[in-house]
Amino acid sequence: MMCSATPKACTNRYWLLGTALLLGMISGCYRPEDLGKEKATSSAGETSQAASTAQVPSIQQPEAGLERVYTIGMSQCNLGEPWRVQMNADIEAAAKKYPNLQVIFKDAQNDTLRQRAHIEEFINAKVDLIIVSPKEAQPLTEPVAKAYRAGIPVIVLDRAVLGEEYTCFIGADNKKIGYAAGKWLVEKLGGRGNVVELMGLMTSTPGQDRHSGFREAIAGTDIKVIFEADMKWLEPNARREMESALARFDKIDAVYAHNDPGAHGAYLAAKAAGREKEMLFVGIDALPHEGIAYVRQGILSATFLYPTGGAEAIEVAMKILRGEPVPKKIVLGSRLFTPENVDRGGDPIE
Ligand code: FRU
Repeated sequence: MMCSATPKACTNRYWLLGTALLLGMISGCYRPEDLGKEKATSSAGETSQAASTAQVPSIQQPEAGLERVYTIGMSQCNLGEPWRVQMNADIEAAAKKYPNLQVIFKDAQNDTLRQRAHIEEFINAKVDLIIVSPKEAQPLTEPVAKAYRAGIPVIVLDRAVLGEEYTCFIGADNKKIGYAAGKWLVEKLGGRGNVVELMGLMTSTPGQDRHSGFREAIAGTDIKVIFEADMKWLEPNARREMESALARFDKIDAVYAHNDPGAHGAYLAAKAAGREKEMLFVGIDALPHEGIAYVRQGILSATFLYPTGGAEAIEVAMKILRGEPVPKKIVLGSRLFTPENVDRGGDPIE
């Protein structure tokens, strides 16, 4: 240990540390042999970014009396979008608080079969808990249920699976966000106008819910969806679809995209056609360095926060691993960001 304070302060610090260690030893909560062990567990606590093909490493368990090392297998559906990179970063940061936690990250690279294989690998490796952010609902349902039935707790994050065979679902209410986006547009456009809807992957639950919520909110108004397409959450697809919409329609008042990359892709297409000032662009996610930056730059008229839930997943995981009860569903809140409210941190949606 290095000390950069005055010699007297250093002496005091060493004395305090020595006393603390001694007291710890006497009270039985800090034994000398734990010092080495602490090193071992904190290095295990560093989350490892394993390649999707990597095997789950075997974990050395500490001797009796210490909280054991837990291994969490995390399957991310892809890391091609900033929002998912953020989710992994949130998980990693939260996991660092627990020196006895190891997280094995796998990236399915937007391939459902690969993601199904991840869950099988985690089951075979007998990890203590699985976190999965599924690409699609139906194809991931069976592997998740299999893990759950094998006694491995599963936290499903952001995109849901079908049925009830998992431990806990954590995510925001996408139907509510879609509804809020619809209401916001109805108000902004004075109840009438032509809208393009660029949908997220419609085999994933956020895509389905952001669509149905939006349609509910505009029902009975003179807002017409003149063009809709599944851009599968991806900016290049959104840009291509928007090019078709622009070619077909002379009057577009707004674009509602199910995520900020989609809204940005649409904006780029409109800008290339010299038509970006004609219409509003609305997205979802509100990452500080993405959607919120677009609002500040005047690219988006609105974006809705879609929290990653990464930190919450680790807190829930620790409860499950310690045998504490957790709810079946945890719903995270959202906020609306516009040029008017962005500086004060947006407003919660009702
Ligand atoms: C990232 C993403 C986000 C979106 C979320 C929905 O893959 O497309 O932009 O909000 O997934 O699951």
